[in-house]
Formats: sequence, structure tokens, C-alpha cells
Amino acid sequence: MANVIVIGTQWGDEGKGKITDLLSRSADVIVRYQGGINAGHTVVVNDQVFKLHLIPSGILYPNKDCIIAGGTVVDPQTLLAEIERLQELGISTDRLYVAETAHVTMPYHRLIDQAAEQQRAKHRIGTTGRGIGPTYADKSERIGVRVLDLLDREAGAEQIRWAVEHKNLVLQRLYGLPPLDPEAIVAQYLEYGERLRPHVVDASLKISEAIRKRRNILFEGAQGTLLDLDHGTYPYVTSSNPIAGGACIGAGVGPTTIDRIIGVAKAYVTRVGEGPFPTELHDHIGEYLCQRGAEYGTTTGRKRRCGWFDGVIGRYAVRINGLDCLAITKLDVLDELPEIKVCIAYEIEGKVVRDFPSNSRAFAKAKPIYETLPGWRTPTQHCRSLSELPREARDYLKFLADLMEIPIAIVSLGANRGQTIIIEDPIHGPKRGLLSL
Ligand code: GDP
Ligand code: IMO
Ligand code: MG
Repeated sequence: MANVIVIGTQWGDEGKGKITDLLSRSADVIVRYQGGINAGHTVVVNDQVFKLHLIPSGILYPNKDCIIAGGTVVDPQTLLAEIERLQELGISTDRLYVAETAHVTMPYHRLIDQAAEQQRAKHRIGTTGRGIGPTYADKSERIGVRVLDLLDREAGAEQIRWAVEHKNLVLQRLYGLPPLDPEAIVAQYLEYGERLRPHVVDASLKISEAIRKRRNILFEGAQGTLLDLDHGTYPYVTSSNPIAGGACIGAGVGPTTIDRIIGVAKAYVTRVGEGPFPTELHDHIGEYLCQRGAEYGTTTGRKRRCGWFDGVIGRYAVRINGLDCLAITKLDVLDELPEIKVCIAYEIEGKVVRDFPSNSRAFAKAKPIYETLPGWRTPTQHCRSLSELPREARDYLKFLADLMEIPIAIVSLGANRGQTIIIEDPIHGPKRGLLSL
């Protein structure tokens, strides 16, 4: 038995969906523990493309329990649409469970997210506009609506009504927007509640029971380490904790239950939205990575900013998540490049800095110091073992592993399940964590 956390090591979109799907094969329960419909996880099975926002990627396998845990924020309209879409494709959602304690993204959250972004003008974050920040803000402010409220025609309805009335003040007075109709929203959200009712559970209890029965749990992170509210590039972050530590809080399990933590890293780096990005490329190579890597947001369709691999944030992700091993994705995207750069340190105000600076103003001034490696200029998508990869590609992987002082267990060379090299068993291989550094 092994309980495994899969997290993103960069700014999201590392290919977590593909790696989670791959590892779900040996899991019994797949748990999403934070974030909401800001996430977009693409899974390709036999050339059929599935885009999942809230439902764990494990749903594509029959007989796996998929749990949307209490640390997530649930937009019921989108979740129900996602359930319907999967059902239309013949995929059962009978074993999908939603935590009754998860907070609900309400219509005013989306309106406030978008209005706040507009008002921030040059200080905007570049959010997905899906109401994620305002939902988590209400949770912290203790005025949130939870899934359990949608199931309760009295106290729950009253909570929704009161929340809408309260938020109408914000919409009208702060943003000059028209008020929402509390009764219409109560009726609509109670109806969503009825449709979700068969899926609603005490998620922490359900996960704990599965752990006691020695079933394998896979905790699927959304977003990435540098988007973490506490440890990312604040304020250009999301409002939850995508790092490994967030899994225990979001799922409601103790840290002692976790056996393994796997980080997913793209062979280069992308970022959507605003905020510093030291290795960003504004030239034809950045454009090449974007086109060849099809780097357009799964959720918003926005063009992703592209840059070279950043070993400073990579090492930071190893540390802050206590990673055991890495999955490197999209190596094939580098196939045509004559040379490849890797950032090994930053220069900040004339000083060489090797550790990620927790001071975000210092990070904003970071200039990358690169090591240049030769490219391989050979297609790799068909490779199924390390020995089939060109020598330069193997050297590139070794360089990354040495830089981050962590083994690479998986290499992904295409969006399909099969386009993968398993170098060592990511779940049962040696355990590393911080002690290995
Ligand atoms: P996530 O948010 O971390 O799950 O990542 P996304 O799904 O948003 O973005 C990753 C994109 O890259 C998706 O379109 C995947 O289908 C695709 N992808 C994943 N792994 C590979 C790979 O190894 N090579 C290529 N070319 N595409 C990949
Ligand atoms: P997955 O799970 C990439 C980014 C947004 C913005 C910031 C805050 O697919 O990796 P939010 O709407 O969360 O308040 O936006 O976070 N962001 C993501 N970027 N992948 C994601 O999810 C993201 N979810 C949020 O672009 O910069
Ligand atoms: Mg994504």
C-alpha cells in the first residue's frame, strides 16, 4: 500500500493530469485536495482528449473512487456540466464523491473576481476569473457557503440568502454592479444541491476508511508550487495551497499517512497570468515552445508565457514539497532545438543567488544565469526506454536530476498514456525527501 501526492513544481500546467492518470492505474482512490475550476487537467487516452477542471483524473478508470475533498472550492454549475459531459462519453461518475465541507463558488464570486481584476488595473494578477480568490476569501472570513448548505432547505437556504444580501452590498457599493436576486440564487443552488446530493459525503472520513483498509490513495494537486498562497510568488499566486503540505489539510488526513511525494516538472517552464518569470523568452524560441508545446490554457485559452527550465525554482520545489522523485514532461517539445539552456542560479543586484528568494521583490529582479547544453535535433515521441533516447536528451535529464539532487522516475514524451518512459518505480522506489539533500 502507498499513499502518494502528485504536485506541480512550477506555475501549473506541468502535465499533472497526464501523470496522475498514469499513476491512477495503481491507485484505488484519487483525491483532489485544493483549488477549483481554475485548474485544467488534460488527459489523452487513445487520442481522445479529456479536459477536467474539478473531477480527479482517475475518473477515466472504472472502479476507482474519486473524491473532491474539503479543501477544494466547488462551482456546482461547472461540476454538474463536467459530470454530464463524462456521462455522455460513457464514463461512469457513480464513484465520484464531493466533500460536504467544500466551499461553494457562488455567482457573486465570479463577478467580484472579474471586477476586482479590472479595478486592480496595472496591479492585476491575471486570475482565471472563475471566482477562486473570492471563494477562499469568504472561507477565511467565515461567511462562505458550503456544499452542505446546498442540501438544507432551511438553515442552508438562510445561509445562502444572507450571503447574497451581504455580497450585494459589495457588488453595488464597491464595484457599482447591479445586485443579485437572493431568492433566485437560493432556488438555483438548492436545485444544484439536489443533483449533487448522491455524491456528497464526509470526505475526510471516507479517505481515512480507505487508508485503514490499506487501499492506495493518490492525492492529485492542482496549480503548482510557485502559485501556492503561502510559498509561491505572492501576490501572483492562487488562493489555495497546491504544495504537498496542502494535501493533508485539504483532504483531512494526518501527515503520517503519506508515503510518497512526486513532483511534475515540464522540461521547460510556462506561466499564465501576471508575475515575475526570470527565464521567460520573448524571442522566436519562446514562440517555438508555445507552438510546439501547444501552450494555450486549458481553462481560459490564454497563451502561456514560455521560458527555459529554471533549476532555482526546481530546487525550491524539491525542498518545499519534500519530493521523493520527479516526472519530467514534454521533453519531446525540445526535440528541434540546436541548444537548450537551463537556469542554474540568479543574479540579483550583482550577487549570485542559488536559493529561491522568499522576498518577492528580490525575485522580481532575478536575472537567470544559464548553462547551455546541446540539443538532440531528433524526434523522441516514439522512445519507450532511456536507451532509445538520443545521448544529448539523456544528458539533459541527468543535468536536471543533478541540479535538483533528485531522481527522475518518469519521462513523458507525448500527451498519450503510452508516450512515457518509466525509469524507476515512482511509488515503490527509494524514498528521498529532504534528508537526501
Ligand atoms: P496540468 O494542468 O498540469 O494537468 O497540465 P495541462 O493539462 O493544463 O497542460 C499540459 C498539456 O500538455 C496538455 O495539453 C497535455 O495533454 C500535454 N502533455 C502532457 N504531457 C505531454 C508530453 O510529454 N508531451 C507533449 N507534447 N504534450 C504533453
Ligand atoms: P492547473 O491545475 C496555470 C493562475 C492564473 C493566475 C493565478 C491566480 O491546470 O495547473 P486564480 O484564478 O487561481 O485566482 O488565478 O493562478 N492559475 C493557473 N495557472 N495552471 C492552473 O491550474 C492555474 N490555476 C490558476 O493564471 O496567474
Ligand atoms: Mg492545466
